[in-house]
Order: sequence, then structure tokens, then C-alpha cells
Amino acid sequence: MQEALNNPLLQRPARSMPRHLAVIGAGSIGPDIGYYLKSALPELKLTIIDISQAAIDAALVRFAEYARKAVAKGKMNPQQAAAVTQQVHGSTDYDAIKDCDWVIEAATENLDLKRRIFAQVEARVASDAVITSNTSSLPAERIFSELRHKERATVTHFFAPAWRNPAVEVIAWSGAAPELVVWLRWVFCNTGKVPLTTTDVPCFMLDRIFDNWCNEAAMLLERASAAEIDSVASEFVHAGPFFVLNLARGNPIITETNTLQADEEGDHYRPAPIFKSVENWLTVAPGKRVEVPAAAAGAIRDRLLGILLSQTVDIVDRAIGSAADLDLGCCTALGFKSGPLALLRQMPEAQAQRILDRLAHERAGMPMPRKPLADYLRFERHVLVDDLDGVKVITLRRPEALNALHDEMTDEILAVIRRYENDPAVAGFVITGYGPKAFCAGADIGRFPSMLGDKGAAAQYSRDCSRLLVHLDAMQKPVVAAINGMALGGGFELAMRCHALVALEQSWMQLPEVSLGILPGIGAMVVPYRRWPQAASTFHGMLRRCDKLKAKQALALGVVDALAKDSSELITLAVARVQALAQGHARIADAPVALPAFEPMDAKAASGMALSPTTLALLEGAVQKAAQAPTLAAALEIGYLAFGDSACTAAAREGIAAFGERRAPDFAAVG
Ligand code: COA
Repeated sequence: MQEALNNPLLQRPARSMPRHLAVIGAGSIGPDIGYYLKSALPELKLTIIDISQAAIDAALVRFAEYARKAVAKGKMNPQQAAAVTQQVHGSTDYDAIKDCDWVIEAATENLDLKRRIFAQVEARVASDAVITSNTSSLPAERIFSELRHKERATVTHFFAPAWRNPAVEVIAWSGAAPELVVWLRWVFCNTGKVPLTTTDVPCFMLDRIFDNWCNEAAMLLERASAAEIDSVASEFVHAGPFFVLNLARGNPIITETNTLQADEEGDHYRPAPIFKSVENWLTVAPGKRVEVPAAAAGAIRDRLLGILLSQTVDIVDRAIGSAADLDLGCCTALGFKSGPLALLRQMPEAQAQRILDRLAHERAGMPMPRKPLADYLRFERHVLVDDLDGVKVITLRRPEALNALHDEMTDEILAVIRRYENDPAVAGFVITGYGPKAFCAGADIGRFPSMLGDKGAAAQYSRDCSRLLVHLDAMQKPVVAAINGMALGGGFELAMRCHALVALEQSWMQLPEVSLGILPGIGAMVVPYRRWPQAASTFHGMLRRCDKLKAKQALALGVVDALAKDSSELITLAVARVQALAQGHARIADAPVALPAFEPMDAKAASGMALSPTTLALLEGAVQKAAQAPTLAAALEIGYLAFGDSACTAAAREGIAAFGERRAPDFAAVG
């Protein structure tokens, strides 16, 4: 039996990628699901089935329109768009799905209808074709109980817009083969989605949050208007509940799903009767708000937070999904600004308790915590941990920011290492990145604006993020970086402190900091020269011109030890490397090092972008000074301080602002 690991790409399932997908239902979400998978796997054949030819025609038009827009926005080239729109067919006849190896049902939320559809599907497809339903609420047990081959069936619940929203719930129900869940998670993760595994309860994990959040908002209409409630909710979500209900035409859905929860779990879930009599809510758009009297605002805030905390503790207590998946899913799928557990972490405990007490009083029956609130916060939010043959594999998981590092993430990695480093059953560690694209896209640029102009704070932030790296330098047990995609800036700085590096063949490394008007402050100006002096000129180019270092070149230079063709081979190599280093690994040299001279160059990056001469001068000064420093620690300190200096320049202000505004920086204007 194949048990799922937390990082879906660590194990390669026996089954390969799908070749022919059928989507049943040409409404809005079905074709969007098809478009997502065709964009990721252009060779895929896609068949869209519906009883209405008009709906199929409209879906095909929308499909072509998506591809046209992707080209216009530069997200795809015309050849890719042509491949995505080829091999896409619609039919009203189920016979068209005979040779499908995956069928996704995305029809109306009605149990009998879904069962009838699956009977038709099963009568036609092979006995090992995968069958999944996109239901948002109906348990798999009920939908699939009449199938002859239940083991190949489950729920895969997507979120709107399904072509872009990364979240997808995968339901691990008792009838599904464990291999099915492993395969689905592997396919999703490989194609850019973030699969979140849940148990088979009504509304699974995220719709328990969303439906009850909306239902509670409707209950509050006794006290305030929809616009007022959405305005208060905007502290927590990008779009208020009533705005989203309008967008998704969600009123009948909440009535349906909350009735299901009420019938199963108690009357406190009963939907607000008003959902049946209102079609569209009069409310404010995201970013806009109306004034709400303080007392009403306080009551609304308490109830919204109350329901959020109540559902959260219930999901964790019943192990419907993991705490980390819940927080991540609320942000990626539902548009929350922070996960509910992150909110709980920020709140004084007495405040959280008061809010829950008030909910218990006003909404008797709603779930309450079964353990002290602090216990709900004991989990890693930004990393996944798996065990492979006594090696702990730590996966950086911040898919919303290409696994960018911040001090909380580095502290979590350090905490995991400290937990196991004295455990004789653990041989060592592998650090890798989540998903197919990035090991880590560097330090989280979102954290930089608050440091600009404050040399001390910026230098201290570098020191804080370096706690992990300094610990790695001193460790006995080996830590191997498995570079599964781009490793940029701080991501590469983390990898270069691991005791060995292995990489995917198509991965690459880069130090793009000077293109942001800042310096790589957590080791890149120091470590490469002491660790790989033979590659010093390459690192000069990486630091001063943002040259890319491709994995093959890194192998030739001795920076990387081995290359892998796919992610499971990469992890196998990394685990083997940990085991090979069990007897010890080389330390980064402590002594000063001689550097090749900096060749004169125009202040330009390899991409042609003009760089700031001020930033380059700071960089060159720091690299030279650090090379002469008597110890590694002294050299690293020079790097932290130089990062602090760079944070006080006009170039840093311009570079960081330009990244936030998604434009090229204009360093010529600032020097
Ligand atoms: N810090 C914070 N967020 C980051 C990030 C970083 N270092 N790198 C990427 N992201 C975010 C992006 O802002 C984007 O978020 P959004 O979807 O909310 O807009 C998301 O990750 C996806 O990145 P995107 O830029 O859309 O992907 P892409 O494939 O078009 O480009 C990169 C990828 C890596 C080239 C581009 O994101 C980039 O230049 N990132 C900065 C790299 C860097 O300079 N690192 C060193 C930092 S010191």
C-alpha cells in the first residue's frame, strides 16, 4: 500500500500523467478545470460532455478566449496557445469518453444527478480509469457507493477560478485506493496546483469555513446591512462574503450545503432563511468600505472571528485537514488575508477566549476548542516534513511566493533540525522546495519595505534569517540541498550552506539582488569564495551582473554534486548523499581568501538592465573586505552590515518599489 507523503512530489506513482481527460459539465467550472490541465499538459486530449450543445459551444469559445488572453498578456507564446486549444472536443454523447483515463464530473450539486452521471461513466470507461467529482459538499461515500470500482474514485474539489486558483481539495475516503490519492496529489502538484488532503465529511475542509462564514454574515443582517458587514469583514478577506456570494451566485449553494451540515451535525448549521428570498446583495466592492458605528462593528467582528475560530478548531480537532493546509487553503482558495490559525497566533489568548465565549452564548451548539488554544498553534506553517529511510526531508512550502524565505520560515526549518539532530534514528536532512518550479525565489521581498532606511533593522533582519545558516555551518549531521527549480538570492544562500547540493537538470541559480538595488546579505558575498574558490570569477559575475548559473554548469564547477532528471530521482540522490556524508562533511574555510580582480564593466545586468553604480560599489567593497576578514563569522557580519547599508540607498527604494509595482526599476534616476 502506498501511503501519501506530505510533499506530493517525493514519490513517483506507478501510474503516469493523464492522456485523455473528460470533464462532465460545460458550466463555468468544468471548462476552467479542463483549461488548467491543458495549459499544464498541452499534449492532453480533452473532451467536454454536456447535455446542452449550446453550453458546449459556449465553453469552447471561452476556452479559446482564455488562450488568446494568455498570449496577449505574454503568459504563453502563440505555439503554446495553439497546442492548448488543439485536441479539445465537446460532445453530448457519453460514448466520446470511452478511452478516457480520467473523468472529472463538474455538474450541478445534486446527489441523484451525480450518481446517474457516474453510472453512465462507469458503463463506458476502463475499470482503472480515474473518476473524480468536483462536488464542494457531498461526501464521496455517498456519491460513489454504487460504483463497481470505487477504489478509482474520489472527490477533487477545485476553487474558482479553477484555471488559476491553485488550491484543490483531494478527499481521502475509505473506498479510495491510497495509490489514487498519491497519484492525484502528484499530478496536481506537478501541474502547479496545491493539493490539500481532507477526510470525507460534508463540505470537506475549506467550504466548512466559507459556507459558515457566509451563513454567519447572513445571520448578522439583523444588526447591520450587507455593505456594513462586508466592510467589517474586509479586515480579514480581500472580498467580503456578500460580494463573493453575488459573484458566485452562491445563495442557493449555501442553503443546500448548510442544510446538509445541519442535518448531519446539528441545527446550529441551519442556513439563514434570507438566502431563499434574496438574489443579489447590495454591497461594496473590494477595497471600498462604508462607515460602521463602533458598537455594531465590534459585534460583527466578534461573530465573524468567532465562527472562523470555531470552524478552525473543529477542523483541527476532527483531523478533517491539517492545520498548515487549513491556513494555506484559506489564503489561496478563499482569499483570506491571513490563515485563521495565524490570526489566532496574533491575538491575545484572552481576546480569542472572549470571542469564542460570545459565540457560544449567541450561537449555541457551534464547535468549541477541545484543548487549550495554545495547543492549536503547535505546527509548522511554512515547511512540510517527511521521513525517507531515516532522513528528514524538509520542504519549503510557500507556493504563493515561490517558496520565498522569511525569518519565520527559517526559524521553522531550524526548529525541525533541532528536534531531530540528536536523534540517533535520524541520519540527516534534505531541504527542498514545494512544487515543480522553485526551490526558493529568495528572501521575501514583501518584508523589505519596512526595513528601507533603517540600517540597524536591515542588518538585524539578515542576522535573524542567518540563525539557521550559522547553525548549518556547525552541524555534525549532514544537510543536503535538493534544488528542484530556481534557487534565487536567499534561496541559493540557504543551499550554499547545506553540506552538499544536488539539483534537477533544468534548475538554475541566480543572485538577482543588485537588480533590486540591494545586496545578498546572508552569505552570498562571502561563502562561495571560501567554499568554491575555483568558481570565484563565476560568482563575481553572479553577484555583479546577476548571471544565471545553470545546474549543468554548477556541476562542472563542483558547486553541485549530482544532477537528476525528475523530482523523485532528485530526492533519491539527496537521501543517498546524506547517507554518504554520515561520516562527516567538509566545513567552509574560516581563513581569509584571495579574490580575482573585478573586471571593469558597465553597470548593467546580464539581462541588459541598467544597475545602480552605488549598489555595485557597496557590493564590491563588501566582497573584498569580507574576503580579508580573519574568520567566517567576521566575514558574514560584514555581509549583514553591507545589506544594512544597501537598504538605506535610493536605489533600494526604487528597486523594491519597482518589484511591488511589477515594473523595471529606473536606477539611472537615483544613481
Ligand atoms: N519574495 C516575495 N514574493 C515573491 C518572490 C520573493 N522573492 N519571488 C516571487 N514572489 C511572488 C511574486 O510576487 C508573485 O506573487 P503574486 O502572484 O501575488 O503577484 C508570485 O511569487 C509568483 O511570482 P511571479 O513573478 O508571478 O512568477 P514568474 O514566473 O513570472 O517570475 C521570478 C518568477 C522569480 C523571475 C520573479 O518572481 C522574480 O523576479 N522574483 C524575485 C526574485 C528575487 O529577486 N529574489 C531575490 C530576493 S532578495
